[in-house]
Amino acid sequence: MEFPFDINQLFSERVTILDHTLVAGRKSAGRPDLQALITTVIDEIGRASAKAQQLTAPITSASKLQSQRHQVYLLKDGERNGGHGVVVGFLKVGCKKLFLLDRQGVHIEAEPLCVLDFYIAENVQRHGYGLELFDFMLQHKNLEPVLMAYDRPSIKFLSFLAKHYCLTQSVPQVNNFVVFEGFFPNRTAAQLRKVPLKKQDGEIKPYSLMEREVIRQEQRALPWPFAPPHTPQRSVSSQCSHSLSVGSSPSGAPLRALRDNRDKSPQSTLAERCRARRTR
Ligand code: ACO
Repeated sequence: MEFPFDINQLFSERVTILDHTLVAGRKSAGRPDLQALITTVIDEIGRASAKAQQLTAPITSASKLQSQRHQVYLLKDGERNGGHGVVVGFLKVGCKKLFLLDRQGVHIEAEPLCVLDFYIAENVQRHGYGLELFDFMLQHKNLEPVLMAYDRPSIKFLSFLAKHYCLTQSVPQVNNFVVFEGFFPNRTAAQLRKVPLKKQDGEIKPYSLMEREVIRQEQRALPWPFAPPHTPQRSVSSQCSHSLSVGSSPSGAPLRALRDNRDKSPQSTLAERCRARRTR
């Protein structure tokens, strides 16, 4: 992706790690002009990613990054565009509190590092850039891919994980995150916590809402002033800036309302089966 300014001036390293400060190295610290350009880059690649995934709105933008404790790994190719460099793609990760099911169907509370967004420019996909970026992140975090959770991975991403990391066997979940065989046995007890099956206010609802689902819900909501002041959509989107998975609480009331509004999906059928099994 080309920009009308010098990418090499903005990002000196091949891979730059950006967080809520939107600062890329020492150069852009205290430089509002450079930070404005970084904002442009993040917004642009976020839009491109959303388009590639056919999402109705980006899940990555500069303003979202500023308000969440996520990290963006940005890959450039400094040689291209007459030496001004191009942005090749990005990978966004962040920790989320999730309620997961292990192989035995036991609810487990965990806060793994999750892949939230991943995009390589169309014209250079399948050239190994995705692998380069992903490997960089794994080294930086000193982590194995099997210990991560994946926020509704696309077909391409699933194929990528299978090819490069032999991640093929997923453990069925009732939310939209995917974890693979090996996620649970490889964790210490401190990282996992079994969730008691019953809570005072009722049954556990292990649904974690992904950001891309929130966006869809936000867009379904009527614009103000037509929307009622406390629709489930509004209350859910208002929690969106937190780094925790929105609605990941097992007893989150807004989420329950949101879930009830969702179309019947394979996940909801699975959820019903799980609920029926628990009831039995
Ligand atoms: N169709 C099927 N598999 C693909 C495709 C494709 N068009 N593109 C990449 N892959 C997978 C394949 O396994 C491929 O191996 P193969 O060519 O031997 O079949 C492998 O990825 C190639 O590895 P890389 O070259 O390192 O991957 P790439 O640079 O293409 O990056 C990525 C992978 C990020 C998934 C890229 O294809 C992309 O941006 N896709 C569009 C956006 C997207 O789907 N992002 C993931 C969203 S889900 C999430 O973020 C949680």
